[in-house]
Amino acid sequence: MFSVCTKTLRSSSKLSTYIRSLTTAQIFQQDGNGKSSIKNITVIGGGIMGSGVAQASAQNGFSVTVVDKDEYTQKCMVSIRKSLDIIAKKKFPDEPKSARKFIDTIFNNIKTTRKIEVGCETADLVVEAVVENLSIKQDVFRKADQASPENTIFTSNTSSLIIEDIAKSTSRPDKFAGIHFFNPVWNMKLVEIIKTQSTSDDTFKKLLRYTKDLGKVPVSSPDTLGFIVNRLLFPYLMESLRLHEHGHVSITDIDTAMKLGAGYPKGPFEIMDIIGLDTVKVLIEGWHKKEPENPLFFPSEILNKLVLDYKLGQKTGIGFYKYKHTLY
Ligand code: NAI
Repeated sequence: MFSVCTKTLRSSSKLSTYIRSLTTAQIFQQDGNGKSSIKNITVIGGGIMGSGVAQASAQNGFSVTVVDKDEYTQKCMVSIRKSLDIIAKKKFPDEPKSARKFIDTIFNNIKTTRKIEVGCETADLVVEAVVENLSIKQDVFRKADQASPENTIFTSNTSSLIIEDIAKSTSRPDKFAGIHFFNPVWNMKLVEIIKTQSTSDDTFKKLLRYTKDLGKVPVSSPDTLGFIVNRLLFPYLMESLRLHEHGHVSITDIDTAMKLGAGYPKGPFEIMDIIGLDTVKVLIEGWHKKEPENPLFFPSEILNKLVLDYKLGQKTGIGFYKYKHTLY
């Protein structure tokens, strides 16, 4: 089987792609044993995703530092506290002392700072989760590159940017990869690990190990627009908006139809409210700019209006639906 494939592919450029994917598959199989060299995680950006990554890492015994402005690190700690309260109540329903100890232990694993230089001083791994803007992310990594030890691995949690474009701002493209968590991080099993042309196998292996240590299931994704999940998900979300805007189908009917007819656990409008409508808008605008002719990436007036009115979904308490509690 192997020799037949090789023969067919030998003369084409597909061979190197095939061999690269084979290597990745082998790394996937080999990984998972031995001690991890990653202990200190620095999360830059303490918003929805940064809080989630910080919590998941601290919960699994990593020492975590969150870097953001003071008011945001405070909000980050509040949202981690809320989430841990829920988990502790489920885990220790009749043992308040154990529940408190569980929360305190995790809290003790998390520090915060507003200074990137301080946050990166002893980092083994940096996970960047700041706003979805290429020049802001590049600026963050320029500073992190100066402040971090030589061996620190850098990752971006970007949903829509090309990892290689962000990595360019650092002196360590071999130690740079994408690590795409899903929201809410505590509940979502999948992590896409994005290996660029320059990411070393060693970096990739260490990231596999880290994500498995978090109890996640990693998949290897190419460094292309939207990786795997968002490349398929966002055209579907935008198509749902168009069906609502131009097809005069109600939001609730679309959500109900996709849940009961297609078996999806959530409808597209519920998903957008969870992601954050500002994030959806920025992502699709970026793709539209890159591929202006592609109708799948056309912007939506309703989405733009909601963002303008600061109706961003669950995080602000209102989006396509209303929520009793905001995330912050
Ligand atoms: P968010 O708006 O909740 O949080 C962004 C945080 O970055 C804010 O706390 C802000 O103060 C901070 N920040 C901005 N500039 C900074 C800087 N220079 N230094 C330190 N902190 C800075 O955004 P969210 O949703 O957490 O998204 C973060 C990243 O994760 C984005 O790249 C997004 O595309 C990606 N992502 C988002 C998902 C979602 O469902 N919201 C899912 C997966 C990835």
